[in-house]
Amino acid sequence: MGSSVPSIGQTWRAIRDRLDTAGIPMAALDARLLVRHVLGLDATGLILSESDPVPGGKVSDLESLVARRLAGEPVARILSVQEFYGLDFRLNPATLIPRPETEMLVDFSIEHLKSHPAPSVADLGTGTGCILLAVLANLPKASGVSVDISADALDQAQANAEALGLADRFGARHGSWFEPLGEEKFDLIVSNPPYIASATIETLEPGVKSFDPMAALDGGPDGLAPYRIISAQARAHLVRGGVLALEIGFDQGHMVNELLSSEGFCDIAIAKDLAGHDRMVTARVPK
Ligand SMILES: C[S@@+](CC[C@H](N)C(=O)[O-])C[C@H]1O[C@@H](n2cnc3c(N)ncnc32)[C@H](O)[C@@H]1O
Repeated sequence: MGSSVPSIGQTWRAIRDRLDTAGIPMAALDARLLVRHVLGLDATGLILSESDPVPGGKVSDLESLVARRLAGEPVARILSVQEFYGLDFRLNPATLIPRPETEMLVDFSIEHLKSHPAPSVADLGTGTGCILLAVLANLPKASGVSVDISADALDQAQANAEALGLADRFGARHGSWFEPLGEEKFDLIVSNPPYIASATIETLEPGVKSFDPMAALDGGPDGLAPYRIISAQARAHLVRGGVLALEIGFDQGHMVNELLSSEGFCDIAIAKDLAGHDRMVTARVPK
């Protein structure tokens, strides 16, 4: 008589099939991540445990996470962690799940600052701290401050800085945009602000509108409210020749370009993401 307890391999494949049947993309990856999380296994551990039985006490834990995924909750939210730029960022309910397209702000920042002897960076609307912390992890002489209006998000960014061993070059400032920065000036200001028009939020997929915090999404009536504030005030917080890099929505490049040029920025450039959508605007303060 064989055991009726399913093996770990059978279990993750059965979960994969349930997620796939429910139309969830990346069903296989999600199934493996959920099983690994509940059983405390890394990727290799999952392979090596293929034939082992799922411990009895873990079956209901796993089932409750699968139910959450089937209800549309993103895996990153369920596990409270998201990989970004090769680093793990812990999440809390006040933080946006870092998105892969935001990595292009990190690419740009590293490339722009790599020859600078000791660059300073401000990250406005930091969430998990992912942009600034990925920059600091790759530029050992850089330091920076993270600003967020959400004290809970900022607490998570601070915890992530500590977990990544970057806290000595990282500062957390609570408040709205430039308000907590006093007179400070930076070599680079980066921001991925909320940029969804308020009325559009209702139309977003459930995994976004129900599980990402509203303060991370809502960019006001036309989605441009944060860009108006940032473009009007950034020059006062950048050194001469300092640079601003902003993530934008796919249809906002033209308007953000206009805002920045009316504030006297030069070398304004719009860059596309890997999907071919306008995703980042960069601009420089004249020297
Ligand atoms: C789109 S999320 C980006 C989070 C993170 N930088 C990322 O790329 O994953 C925007 C962030 O801006 C913050 N935020 C919204 N309004 C703000 C304000 N007035 N001042 C500072 N931060 C603000 C939100 O709390 C949220 O963390």
